[in-house]
Amino acid sequence: MAPLRAAVIGLGSMGANHVRVLADMPELVELAAVADPDEARLRQAARRSGALPYRDAAELLEAVRPEIVTICTPTRTHAAIAELALRSGAHVLVEKPIAASAEDAERLAALAAAEGRLLAVGHIERFNPAVAELARRLGSGEGGRILQVHARRVGPFPHRIRDVGVIHDLATHDIDVLRFLLGDDVERVYAEAQRHIATEHDDLFVGVLHFRRGPIALLEANWLTPAKERSLRVLCERGMYTVDYLAQTLTFYENHAAVAREGQPASVTEGPMTRYPIPYREPLRAELEAFVGAVAEGGPPPVSAADGVEALRIADALARSAAVGQPVTLAAAPAP
Ligand SMILES: NC(=O)c1ccc[n+]([C@@H]2O[C@H](COP(=O)([O-])OP(=O)(O)OC[C@H]3O[C@@H](n4cnc5c(N)ncnc54)[C@H](O)[C@@H]3O)[C@@H](O)[C@H]2O)c1
Repeated sequence: MAPLRAAVIGLGSMGANHVRVLADMPELVELAAVADPDEARLRQAARRSGALPYRDAAELLEAVRPEIVTICTPTRTHAAIAELALRSGAHVLVEKPIAASAEDAERLAALAAAEGRLLAVGHIERFNPAVAELARRLGSGEGGRILQVHARRVGPFPHRIRDVGVIHDLATHDIDVLRFLLGDDVERVYAEAQRHIATEHDDLFVGVLHFRRGPIALLEANWLTPAKERSLRVLCERGMYTVDYLAQTLTFYENHAAVAREGQPASVTEGPMTRYPIPYREPLRAELEAFVGAVAEGGPPPVSAADGVEALRIADALARSAAVGQPVTLAAAPAP
């Protein structure tokens, strides 16, 4: 099959990585064009990839008619640019979060369905090999029932992110990972959020999520921690898994002797600890290969627009809970 004609819109920190990875997949993709109003970034991306440079996304779409488009612009611009790209006939992957609000995201999902185009969202952590291995192990029932999850995503403030707060920018990663790992949706949330540095949005957040089938999750995200940490603990009946997203490691702390009394676990003791060997893989490459593969084979997208909508509905509910100081109950997710 001929390589798919691709374009990248938005050439900042994340867009430069999309350009690097797509330009390195010549058997699958021809990176035909790139767009960004920032002249220096545009020149650099075009020089490195050989793609045609456009300052304006609409002009690129009109002139090049790419078959696939990845959108790496600031979050508040996602919906408008994705709409243009879908209407031009492209299959689209939008960086996370899919839009700035669940309403915008729902409109985009409906448009993609009406246009018959794939719309995927870049929830990249599903493609972290440690998360993929954890999903496989949880799916096999190795750990037994999941009781609680704790996700921590903290570090210094990335000065380029000015348009949304820490819930929508950072916590959406973990919200999506939790939905993916638990295969379940969120029923109720409670959050506290604060603002400590000079932006218009919250930069410190702690949230509790109650999943419909019972597990509880604790999410922490902030831009105020001098050491970067992205970690996950999944406590199950038979032990606890820990993931270090950055190091791509997965460890299992086995519950050695949960003594059953009348069928109930009666105690928990420390058992063996196993660090599973996981070959390193760049998550962005895995994500883009999965997207291109889905387009070539006619779908479904690796992480769907519906997943993007649901992550945003939960993020919006967390932000609302933090604003009103009360738990927020979510309506059941619409059937896919
Ligand atoms: N998946 C991940 O792990 C991950 C990591 C970082 C950022 N992101 C997401 O990627 C998006 C971009 O983040 P970033 O950190 O690269 O930001 P950035 O500020 O570094 O880059 C954004 C770029 O978009 C350009 N731009 C703005 N409006 C545009 C338009 N109308 N048309 C074309 N280009 C336009 C800007 O000039 C800039 O070069 C955000 O939505 C963010 O949430 C995802």
